[in-house]
Amino acid sequence: MKPRYKTAFIVLALAIAGGCVFLFNSFYRDAKNVAIAKLNQQQLIHAREVALGIEDFFGTWIRSLSSLSQLDVIIVGNAVGKRYQQLYYEAHREQIMAITRLDERGVIVDSYPARDEVGTDLSHQKYIRELLRDHRAVVSNVFKTIEGVDAVALHVPIFRDGEFKGSIGILINFEDLARRYLDPIRISQTGYAWVIDHDGTVLYTPNQAYIGKTIFAVMKGNEALEAIVKDMLDGHEGVARYGYDKLVDRNVGPATKYVAYMPVRLGPTSWSICIASAEQDIFADLVTFRNKLAVVIGGLFVCGMVFATLGAKAWLIVTEERKRRLAEEKLRESEARFRTVADTAPVMIWMSDTDKLCCFFNQGWLQFTGRRLDQELGNGWSEGVHAEDSERCHKVYVTSFDARESFTMEYRLRRKDGSYGWVLDTGTPRFSADNVFLGYIGSCIDISDRKASELEAQRHRAQLAHLSRVALMGEMSASLAHELNQPLTGIVSNSAAGRRLIDAARATLPELRELLTDINADGRRASEVVRGIRSMVKKGEPTRQQMNVNDIVTSVVKIVHADAVLRACQVQISLEADLPRIDGDPVQLQQVLLNLVLNGFDAMSDTPVDLRKVMIATESNGDRTIRVSVRDHGSGIPEPLRERLFAPFFTTKTEGIGMGLAIVRSIIESHGGMIEAENAAGGGALFHFTLSVHAPVSETRVERAAGVALTEQPART
Ligand SMILES: Nc1ncnc2c1ncn2[C@@H]1O[C@H](COP(=O)(O)OP(=O)(O)O)[C@@H](O)[C@H]1O
Ligand SMILES: [Mg+2]
Repeated sequence: MKPRYKTAFIVLALAIAGGCVFLFNSFYRDAKNVAIAKLNQQQLIHAREVALGIEDFFGTWIRSLSSLSQLDVIIVGNAVGKRYQQLYYEAHREQIMAITRLDERGVIVDSYPARDEVGTDLSHQKYIRELLRDHRAVVSNVFKTIEGVDAVALHVPIFRDGEFKGSIGILINFEDLARRYLDPIRISQTGYAWVIDHDGTVLYTPNQAYIGKTIFAVMKGNEALEAIVKDMLDGHEGVARYGYDKLVDRNVGPATKYVAYMPVRLGPTSWSICIASAEQDIFADLVTFRNKLAVVIGGLFVCGMVFATLGAKAWLIVTEERKRRLAEEKLRESEARFRTVADTAPVMIWMSDTDKLCCFFNQGWLQFTGRRLDQELGNGWSEGVHAEDSERCHKVYVTSFDARESFTMEYRLRRKDGSYGWVLDTGTPRFSADNVFLGYIGSCIDISDRKASELEAQRHRAQLAHLSRVALMGEMSASLAHELNQPLTGIVSNSAAGRRLIDAARATLPELRELLTDINADGRRASEVVRGIRSMVKKGEPTRQQMNVNDIVTSVVKIVHADAVLRACQVQISLEADLPRIDGDPVQLQQVLLNLVLNGFDAMSDTPVDLRKVMIATESNGDRTIRVSVRDHGSGIPEPLRERLFAPFFTTKTEGIGMGLAIVRSIIESHGGMIEAENAAGGGALFHFTLSVHAPVSETRVERAAGVALTEQPART
């Protein structure tokens, strides 16, 4: 998968996961809120029920005691009254622990069963103080009786003719009350009720240890709870939530409680009841829901991922397909364009694959060869290459192909009509945009005309070279005649001497033998001179052979010997011993040296006789070329003429033709060398030329050189 798609996929997965987490959270939060609301409501209902129950409980007792308090016997507190009180107690002994009559100062006048002594002053007690002050029914705090039972005292005022005459009260077993109203309050696992009085004293809580303490001491420093308690003490009802981690001084870890509170109105005084549940209850209830939700959302996530993956895949396939189609279309278009261009181009175009086999030929090629495409494809095309060029072409193609290098080659290719035409083929490796080798592409141009004119020019040059050699022989005719004369004279005189000896009958066999040997030697010399002349004058085809240039130099020295003697010139040579052999045409190279030496002789006609010297030197350049120089002590070359010496028909001599140096240069160049002329230090001209030691470095170059060579092979078409 491409990195771009990978990232997109990861982002998508994260988005789906995020969405699922969000869904889960919002569902769970909603469920939690609902659960909290439900709990609050439930607790409030409980609180209200309990509050109403307690209010009702006390209301019933107050009403009952109020009716008792209106009895005269009770008001005056006589024996009958006391008896009434006893009966009242007996009737309710299940619920009340005692019945007590206080006077208007709060002192016990009567108590049944006798608990507190008559005469005990209770006016110091808070609720009694309230009673004495307000003359209304009062309820005491919960306190422990001497039996160790939690109890609450309820007193109802007694009036006679509207005058406050003390009270009648009962002691109620609070545990009874709590058992009836508060203990049953169990909500979930932790929910329970607690009750405080209007001072904040804890009247009831399931944990006995806190009873009797003020709530502020129990929850000290917990501001949230303090605010709730204040609201409770103000007689309000409500629901709230608080966190805590301490109870009195005991660490209980962080916890949150949800509470519902409700005032309990007990006549002038009031309590407040609070029902509290720990948060974990809600969570406990939510666990199943949460797990189910997790399963559902998890399923949703998996489905989402599956759909997203499938969707992404489908999308990928569609886009890839579209891209591929576009690319294909583009390729088709560019291929069509290429074909149009290739087929209308005025050149022959071919293409090959990486396996070297040709896979394309344009119309130009097919029109040239007159064959069908399927005949040319692969290696078919090579059938049309001229047998003489086939091997060379194959070599160039294969070596260039393996090296991934461009190449140029010239070869003959069969035309439609069966004749061969010369083509110049240029091949270049093809690479894709990401540099993968794809094969080769090449173009050929028909160079038959150029080749024909080259051959024509070459023929002309060969003719000229021949004429020039004939001319050279002409130049040397005097010396050659002399050269030939010497052996002939020798033959004539030796044969005459022999005849004379025979005539005088003095001839001895040894003498005759000596004469005949001399004659034979002279005959050979003459025939050698003639052969030399013949080879120069012969209209031979240029040839190539391995040879030592030093041999050419010595042969030329021999040829010009007579000329040198006639012109009083000396020829000196300086030859390098280990001169590498070269590939060349000996007759042509002789022609070169002859031209240069004879020009030197010409130039020295005004030089004092003892200075007339021509020096021929050879040396190896060490870079696969050898250097040959011919130096004279003649007039030298006037600077303005230096450039023109090698031009055809340039001469300064009255009887000169001016072709010598032109021919010399074309011969040297056809041997892969070059020639230059300069003035030597100390006077005279210095001509030096190079010859390459070996055949061409590459086929390509040979082909090129051959294209302009004087020594081109015979016409091949
Ligand atoms: N060794 C030389 N010293 C001075 N000038 C020379 C020498 N060789 C050739 N030249 C000059 O170059 C000209 C051309 O020489 P060449 O082509 O051999 O034709 P030709 O010898 O028929 O004049 C000569 O006429 C001569 O002026
Ligand atoms: Mg000359």
